[in-house]
Amino acid sequence: MLFDFSFEDAKTKYKKLVAEIHRHDELYHTEDNPEISDAAYDQLRLELLELEEKFPQLVTDQSPSKTVGAKVASGFKTIRHAIPMLSLSNAFEDQDVIDFVGRVKKFLNIADSEPLSIVTEPKIDGLSCTLRYEHGKLLFAATRGDGAEGEDITENVKTIRDVPQTLPSDVPDILEVRGEIYMRKAEFLELNQHQESKGEKIFANPRNAAAGSVRQLDSNITKTRPLRFFGYALGEVSAPIADTQDGIRKKLKSFGFAQAEPIAVCENVDELLAYYHKVEVERPDLPYDIDGVVYKVDRLDLQERLGFVARAPRWATAHKFPAEQAVTILKDIKIQVGRTGALTPVAELEPITVGGVVVSRASLHNEDEIIRLDVRIGDHVVVQRSGDVIPKVVSVVFEKRLPNAANYIYPTTCPACGSHAVREEGEVVRRCTGGLICPAQAVERLKHFVSRNAFDIEGLGAKIIEEFYADGLIKTPADIFMIEVRDKGSLTPLRVREGWGDLSVKNLFASIEKRRSISLEKFIYALGIRQIGESTAKRLATTYETISKFITEMDAAQDKASDQYATLLNIEDIGASVANDLLDFFAEPHNKEVVSDLLEQITVTDYKPVRVSNSPVAGKTVVFTGSLVKMTRAEAKAKAESLGAKVAGSVSAKTDYVVAGEDAGSKLSKARELNLAVLSEDQWLELIG
Ligand code: IVH
Repeated sequence: MLFDFSFEDAKTKYKKLVAEIHRHDELYHTEDNPEISDAAYDQLRLELLELEEKFPQLVTDQSPSKTVGAKVASGFKTIRHAIPMLSLSNAFEDQDVIDFVGRVKKFLNIADSEPLSIVTEPKIDGLSCTLRYEHGKLLFAATRGDGAEGEDITENVKTIRDVPQTLPSDVPDILEVRGEIYMRKAEFLELNQHQESKGEKIFANPRNAAAGSVRQLDSNITKTRPLRFFGYALGEVSAPIADTQDGIRKKLKSFGFAQAEPIAVCENVDELLAYYHKVEVERPDLPYDIDGVVYKVDRLDLQERLGFVARAPRWATAHKFPAEQAVTILKDIKIQVGRTGALTPVAELEPITVGGVVVSRASLHNEDEIIRLDVRIGDHVVVQRSGDVIPKVVSVVFEKRLPNAANYIYPTTCPACGSHAVREEGEVVRRCTGGLICPAQAVERLKHFVSRNAFDIEGLGAKIIEEFYADGLIKTPADIFMIEVRDKGSLTPLRVREGWGDLSVKNLFASIEKRRSISLEKFIYALGIRQIGESTAKRLATTYETISKFITEMDAAQDKASDQYATLLNIEDIGASVANDLLDFFAEPHNKEVVSDLLEQITVTDYKPVRVSNSPVAGKTVVFTGSLVKMTRAEAKAKAESLGAKVAGSVSAKTDYVVAGEDAGSKLSKARELNLAVLSEDQWLELIG
């Protein structure tokens, strides 16, 4: 096709491509908000190269093919983490820190007045990385990715001076060191000067520069970048190296891993806050960017007892520095419709830089927030951004309000389908009642379906879903898995679409193919049912174990007098409201059709109970009743679940063990009636070892 181009045509096409690539580089690197898939981006670059080959006179020094800071292709292998890489919960106010310490103590049954050692460290603004050493040799390095698997960046990490290639001979055979890859502020500025003098890409901040450098496919380029590494945690280890967090830090230091300063071991909230304020003052003088501090319970045995919730440990939290603010003009308020029909107002702003990042949209939360702020279109507003949190409008500069600024009237119909949007009593959210006829809800459900923690289909991002939905290529999840077959017979196959080509289409099909098998918990989560988040989906999977059982039980549970309904309500954290949303979903014939069409395309693997070695309670159903003395109810439940047991709220014939603490009442009597195994707290502890 290219060969039919005249030089003039090629020039126009070339200019367009260059502008487009620059725009996507910018979206990816500076705004961290890519609009197209990696595959589609690679295709653009391929087209550019083809044009350059044919018309070399077009090439300039500024051409994206000459710049090294450009986005790299997604050419990294994936590596599954032996132990998931978690993220951290956030604290913003002093009260959040008080609550954090309170929660930890309550969980562990430590009196408020007793001290509890907590290690404090700066929170480095870089990207997390895990380094696996076997027999003291660096075997591989990987990014965090989605927490379960990351990208293999070994070759690039080997170029970082701060990362030891070998460790002292007395380290455990397996030792995974986790930490942050970052760039020092001064070295970042030097790098940018160098880039500028060569007409190459300028990075917006040290974090972006570090991320861009690590994701280079050519490690010779990475080698020229001033990357550094701090080690602050462990992944898999074949033998313990310390029994406290502070001990780990000291050991890591002795192995040759640099440590961020300052650190402290605090004994109470006042000391934590004093540390926080000290670091806040020192922040501008630190040689690297930090976006807060991290608090970690010092004793590792306590960390283990505390475990984690969803994606973050209970034993640590990040205390963020106050957000950065800027004033700009509110150009418009757009209403977005979510997958469950919730209308959310979004502020469209005159673009402004807040803390080094260009912000053009911000959250306005809901109808009440607009009233509370008394914000009107055309107002000057204060926009706030903190770390990775979505920017929000926090106040209005009333002195600058124009006399004709009108009150904002919140819509009572859905902007996407025109259905009534209603606000139930006591709810803050107004919802579109269009349900299945609302195209916005359908698109959002599809986006959720392919998202990272659900089906995780790489290359099928939000923009592409919108485009494919609008063109009728994908209407329901099953369509995603039929797209390749349909494409074969299509008169307008994907590869002729703008921005697509053979390579990007091939990559897309391959990433869809990879997801034809999925675990039950991810499948349930992917359906996008209201109130069914990852934790609830996991509990449902633990209870029902197979997709067919899950579906039959949901059908039977429609009858509220049934045993199946009782079983559902018996699941930890599922109350009548969650159960209703779940059952409503399965009562809708269209939803059942969506699920059965999908099941013709994919396999849902059975839930595998956590086979913790030597766990005598894996797969068993346990009920705790009465007051426990040795541990709190929360800890007992978390421990049982980590050993693969199911914790239920009430006693039934299906209960395997009833653990009765002091003053156990009706549940204990019921257990005796049903002749179930009743254990005292001590017997339970003995059973689980
Ligand atoms: S500990 C299980 N310590 O912050 C806890 N993380 O927002 C693992 N980070 O993914 C993390 N400095 O990339 C820890 N001193 C520090 C850190 C730190 C920066 C990053 C890390 C983590 C993210 C969570």
